[in-house]
Amino acid sequence: MWGGRFSQGTAASVEAFSASIQYDSRLYKYDIAASKAHAAMLAANGVLSGKELEDIEAGLTAIEAEIDAGKFEFKPELEDVHMNIEKALIERIGPAGAKLHSGRSRNDQVAVDFKMYLRDQCDNTIALLDEIRTVFVLLARKYLGDLMPGYTHLQRAQPVQIAHHMLAYYEMFSRDKSRMEDCRKRLNLSPLGCAAMAGSGLPLDREVTAKALGFDGYTANSMDTSGDRDYAIEFVSVCTMIQLHLSRLSEELVLWSSQEFEFVNISDKFCTGSSIMPQKKNPDIPELIRGKSGRVVGSLMTLITLVKGLPLTYNRDLQEDKEPVFDTVDTIAASLSIMAELLQNLQFNTKKMAEATRAGCMTATDLADYLVMKKVPFRDAHAIVGNAVAYCLSRGKELPDLTIEEFGQFSDVIGEDVYEVLSIEGSVNSRKTAGGTGLLRVTEEVEKAEKQLGIA
Ligand code: ARG
Repeated sequence: MWGGRFSQGTAASVEAFSASIQYDSRLYKYDIAASKAHAAMLAANGVLSGKELEDIEAGLTAIEAEIDAGKFEFKPELEDVHMNIEKALIERIGPAGAKLHSGRSRNDQVAVDFKMYLRDQCDNTIALLDEIRTVFVLLARKYLGDLMPGYTHLQRAQPVQIAHHMLAYYEMFSRDKSRMEDCRKRLNLSPLGCAAMAGSGLPLDREVTAKALGFDGYTANSMDTSGDRDYAIEFVSVCTMIQLHLSRLSEELVLWSSQEFEFVNISDKFCTGSSIMPQKKNPDIPELIRGKSGRVVGSLMTLITLVKGLPLTYNRDLQEDKEPVFDTVDTIAASLSIMAELLQNLQFNTKKMAEATRAGCMTATDLADYLVMKKVPFRDAHAIVGNAVAYCLSRGKELPDLTIEEFGQFSDVIGEDVYEVLSIEGSVNSRKTAGGTGLLRVTEEVEKAEKQLGIA
C-alpha cells in the first residue's frame, strides 16, 4: 500500500513486529462506517462518481458481512485493520476502491475509528454503572432501618444505617457516571479530514462526515488531532476510578464475609472451595476484582507513559494505545457486571451487624454531644467521655450499662435523659444533618436516588 519509494520489501521480522491487526481488527465496524461516510462526502464533492460510490458502499458492506461471519482473512503483512479492509475492497471492486483513500491518512482514520469505538464504550459503561447503581439503591431500600457499625481506621466508630453504607457506593458510581458522560462529550469531535496532520488540498467537507458519523462537530487543529490520545487516557482514567471503587467494595466484601465479621453471606454461586481444605468457602470474585484493579491502573500508566515526550504529531508509538484500552474495556465491563450480579445475591446478616453496634462504646460521641448541649465545652466533654469509656473498658461494660451514680464520677450534669442518647437507634436517628445517617435523611436519599433511576 505504500511500497512505491522502496526498493526492498519489508523484512518478515518487521512485519511481525509492527503489525497491529491481531488486536485492531476489533475496530472493523467503525473503520467501515467511517470509510462509507468519507466516500459519500468525496462523491458529493466531485472526487468520486456516483457509480464509484455505489461500488465502494456495496464492497464495504460485503466485506463487513464477511468479517461478521468470521470468513474474512486478516493478513498480518497488511499491518492493520485499515489496510486489510482497503486492500480487500480494491481486490473486490478494482480502481474505485483505490480512490477511497483520497484526502485521508491512516492517522485521521485510526483516530476516527478509535473515537467511535470509545464513544460506544462510554455508553456501554454508563449502562453498566446504572445497573450497579440500581442494585445499591434496591439494597438500601431493602435494609432501611437496619444498623451496622461505621468504621474509621477499620475501628468501630459510630453506628450507621446499612442503607447509608450502600448509598455511599451509589454516590461513588454516580460520580463515575458523570465523569464518563463528560469524557464522552469531550471526545465526540470528528478527526476525519485532518488527513496526515496538515489537512487536505482536496475539497473535503468535515462537517458532513462528522454529522454522518454522529459526532457533535469536528476538531479544530489538524496537528493536534493527528497526535491526540487525550481521550483514550481520559477514558482509562475514568475506568481506573470505577475499578478503584469496585476494589474498595471488594475489600469490604472480603472482610465482611470472613468469620471475623460474618456480616454478609456471599452466595455459593459466587464462591469457590479449596482443593485441600474441605471447610473453605473463598470470596474469589471480590478478590479477583480487587486484583484486576492492578491491570487497569497499569493500563493508565502505559498510556500516559506512551504519550509523554512525543513530539507533534503522529508517531508510530501511538499504535501501542489500543491494547491497554481494550484490556481496560474488557476488565471494567466484566467486573461491573459480575459485581452487580453478586450484590443481587448477597445476604446481609442484619442480626450480627446490629450486635456489632452494641460493643465498643460507639455512642461515645453522642454522650459528648449531650454534654455540649448541657453547656460543657466540647474539649472538656471529650475528656469526660474518654474517662467514662476507660471505666467501661476496665469493667467490661458499655456506656448504657452505667448507672447515674457511676456517671456522676465523671460529670454532674448527666441525668436520666442520657439513656435516650446512648441508645444505638437514638444515636443513629439523631444524625439529622444533611447527608447524615439518621433514618429520616437516609430515607430521603433513597427516595431521591429511586427518582434519579426512575424506579420510584
Ligand atoms: N496501525 C496504526 C496505528 O494504530 C495506524 C496508523 C498508522 N499511520 C502511519 N503513519 N504509519 O496507529
